[in-house]
Amino acid sequence: MMEGGDLFQGVQHIEFYVGSARQWAFYHSKAFGFAIKGYAGPETGVRDRVSYLLEQGKVRLILTGFLDSNSDIGQHVRLHGDGVHDIALKVKDYEETSSFINERKVALIKDEGEIKTGEGLIRKGYVEAYGETRHSLIDLSEYEGYLPPGFMEIKSADGEVFVGNIDHVVGNVKEGEMNSWVDFYIQGMGFTQLMSFDDKDISTKYSALRSKVVQYGKRNVVFPINEPALGLKKSQIQEYIDYYRSDGVQHIALHTSDIVKTVRELKARGVEFLNTSGIYYDTLAERVGRIDEDISDLRELGILVDRDDDGYLLQIFTKPIGDRPTFFYEIIQRKGATSFGKGNFKALFESIEREQERRGNL
Ligand code: FE2
Repeated sequence: MMEGGDLFQGVQHIEFYVGSARQWAFYHSKAFGFAIKGYAGPETGVRDRVSYLLEQGKVRLILTGFLDSNSDIGQHVRLHGDGVHDIALKVKDYEETSSFINERKVALIKDEGEIKTGEGLIRKGYVEAYGETRHSLIDLSEYEGYLPPGFMEIKSADGEVFVGNIDHVVGNVKEGEMNSWVDFYIQGMGFTQLMSFDDKDISTKYSALRSKVVQYGKRNVVFPINEPALGLKKSQIQEYIDYYRSDGVQHIALHTSDIVKTVRELKARGVEFLNTSGIYYDTLAERVGRIDEDISDLRELGILVDRDDDGYLLQIFTKPIGDRPTFFYEIIQRKGATSFGKGNFKALFESIEREQERRGNL
C-alpha cells in the first residue's frame, strides 16, 4: 500500500519564463552568485527557445526565453511578465507517482513519456497547478547525465556559495481559492498541512492575506499558499494577481547558513532588499529574546528575526526581480525555528506597502 511518503524527493529545479534569459542569467550570476552551468538553444539543436541552467548549492534554476513570440513561452511572458513556469519535482519512481496521483483524481497528469539519451533514460510528466504554474515530475533514476537533455556545458568558475537550498516556494491564488489549492496538494498529491495563520495574524491596516502551508514528507517540499483577504485597501496579494494576470509564484525562499554575511555580500553585488524601519530593531530584543547575531548588523542590513517554539529564524525579502511587482526572493536562515516568520508579517507588510504606495496601488 502506498503511503505517499516517499514519492517526491524534493524540488529538482525551478524554471522561469522570461523576456531575456541572457539578462536574467547575468543578473543571477553577477548579483546573486549563481554559477551558469549549462545552455540550450539553436546551437544545441533547440529551435524555439534559449535556456540557461544555473546552480548554487543545491538550488537549480532554469531561465528560459523565447525565440518565437507566438510560442507558449512568448505568450506566457506577454501575459504574466517574467515569472516562474515550473516548480519541477524530483520523483523516485515516475510510474508509482503517476498512478498515485491518477488514482486520487484531483490533479491531472500529462504524461510526457520517456526521453532516451546517450546518458540514459528520463521519465517525465507534469501536473498543472495554480494559474499557469506546473509541476514537472522527473524520474532521473536511470539517467547518468549531469545536465538536462539538449543542454551543453558552460565552463564557469564556481563562486562562493551563499545560499544552499530552497526552503519554501510560495504561491499566490485568488481570493476564496486557497482551500481548494490546499486540497489539491493534500488530496491530490499526498501532501500534509503544516500550519495555518488567519487573517488577524497577517494584516496591517491596509493589506491582509490568509496563508496555509502544505509540505511533502519531512519538509522535502514546502509550499505556503496565500490568498488576499479584505483590508481597508488593496491586499498585496491582489496587487500581485493584478500584475501577474493570474495566480502564480510569489517568492522562493533560499536558505543560507550565514545570513549576515550573505546579505552583506548580495547587497554589495547590487541585490536590492526591502528596507525595515529602525523602530523594528528598538524592540527586537524584547520580542525575540537572546540571539547569536549582533542587532547592529541586523539593523544595518534590514534583516528580520522571529521566534517560535522550536527556535528562531532570520529572514529578508528582495524587491521584485522583474519589472512588474510580482516575483521576489527571500533569504532565510533557520536556527531551530520551523515556522515562516509570522511575527514579521506586520513589519514586512508595512515595508511592502511603502513600495506599493510609491507605485500608486494602495
Ligand atoms: Fe517565505
